[in-house]
Amino acid sequence: MTYSIGQHELAAPVVLAPMAGVTNAPFRALCRRYAPGLVYVNEMVMATPVVQGNPKTHRMITFGDDEHPRSQQLYGSDPAIMGDAVRQLCDDGRVDHIDINFGCPAAKVTRRGGGAAVPARPELLRAIVRAAVAAASPYGIPVTTKFRMGLFDDWLTFKRTGEVCADEGVASIAMHARTVEQHYSGEARWEAIGELKEHMSSLGGSIPVLGNGDIWEASDAVAMIEQTGCDGVVVGRGCLGRPWLFGDLVDALNGREVPPSRLLGEVAAVMADHAALLAQHLGEDHAMRDFRKHTGWYMSGYPVGSEIRRRFSMTKSLAELDDILATMLDKVGADATIVEGGERIKRGHTNGPIRVAIPEGWLDGQTRQSLDSDVTVPDDDHVMALSGG
Ligand SMILES: Cc1cc2nc3c(=O)[nH]c(=O)nc-3n(C[C@H](O)[C@H](O)[C@H](O)COP(=O)(O)O)c2cc1C
Repeated sequence: MTYSIGQHELAAPVVLAPMAGVTNAPFRALCRRYAPGLVYVNEMVMATPVVQGNPKTHRMITFGDDEHPRSQQLYGSDPAIMGDAVRQLCDDGRVDHIDINFGCPAAKVTRRGGGAAVPARPELLRAIVRAAVAAASPYGIPVTTKFRMGLFDDWLTFKRTGEVCADEGVASIAMHARTVEQHYSGEARWEAIGELKEHMSSLGGSIPVLGNGDIWEASDAVAMIEQTGCDGVVVGRGCLGRPWLFGDLVDALNGREVPPSRLLGEVAAVMADHAALLAQHLGEDHAMRDFRKHTGWYMSGYPVGSEIRRRFSMTKSLAELDDILATMLDKVGADATIVEGGERIKRGHTNGPIRVAIPEGWLDGQTRQSLDSDVTVPDDDHVMALSGG
């Protein structure tokens, strides 16, 4: 199977899911070591502060010198602002690919009609996508979208969302196979990915459909593609503490044998590298605070004991991290293996279901999967940066 984003043909149809607070330049650099030539999407930024020239937002849009494609996810609910943000990033030559987030389930976003609330208003969705594609196309930059199945089981919108995106010239669509209400609970419903693929094929187009949700091991990607007929996969939480998963995915999808789970000594070496890359990027103090969450993910499934975990969760410096790693390897052994099934221990977000927050009257006069409703353009000023998708 092949998959291209713009002029970039990928080594396998695999995309790193954008994850706020995680998929920054150092994390992507680490993942690329195991599998160059995939799409690794930077964490989401809001369109409004891009346009306003907010320095913190602009610092977040950072790519490695050797990184291609440079993929940036944007979030926004005002078509004009989205268009301006995309134009600015393309015109400055800062990106090779734009992804738009229509799957963010955070209440403070959906309550104002943004994120995952947008697909419930197909004309608003259309206006945002149209503005982004119009802004990006003169530069030859592809725009992709990522969304959920819908707000809740009684309000599924994914087929229509795919249709609107394809109509408006999006290069590929990706679906996290959960509703907003589900949040991260239960299992991803891969059958909906199959339905989306079938629906898009029935329209006669050739837009690639990427499946997302609960790929924890390389074999899951093979299974998702086999079961749903999707054109590729988007991988999020499975790579938390396991950046080598991308190498495994390329192997599995090219029919090669996948290496066994890494021994503790290899994990420790990757942790030290990751922390050093983060320190170069953020400064040691900030980096070490940020790295603490990664230590829990790296250690999940390894029998290292609670005292080591506690020390990791309070690490203040690279030197202290080295010290804890050395103590750990001394006590547990560099050849310690992950517990049976440890790769599948859920990491990152796991909670749900949630109560879906949408503006009053948001669904009035709306239909589910069909295409008629009014354009309403909520303003996304003053919404804080947030995570989720
Ligand atoms: C910590 C975290 C942050 C996330 N941030 C974003 C985001 O910025 N944009 C987005 O579209 N999805 C975001 N997501 C959702 C993931 O991209 C992905 O859709 C979801 O985790 C399901 O895929 P998975 O089962 O492979 O993790 C985030 C998920 C996590 C765990």
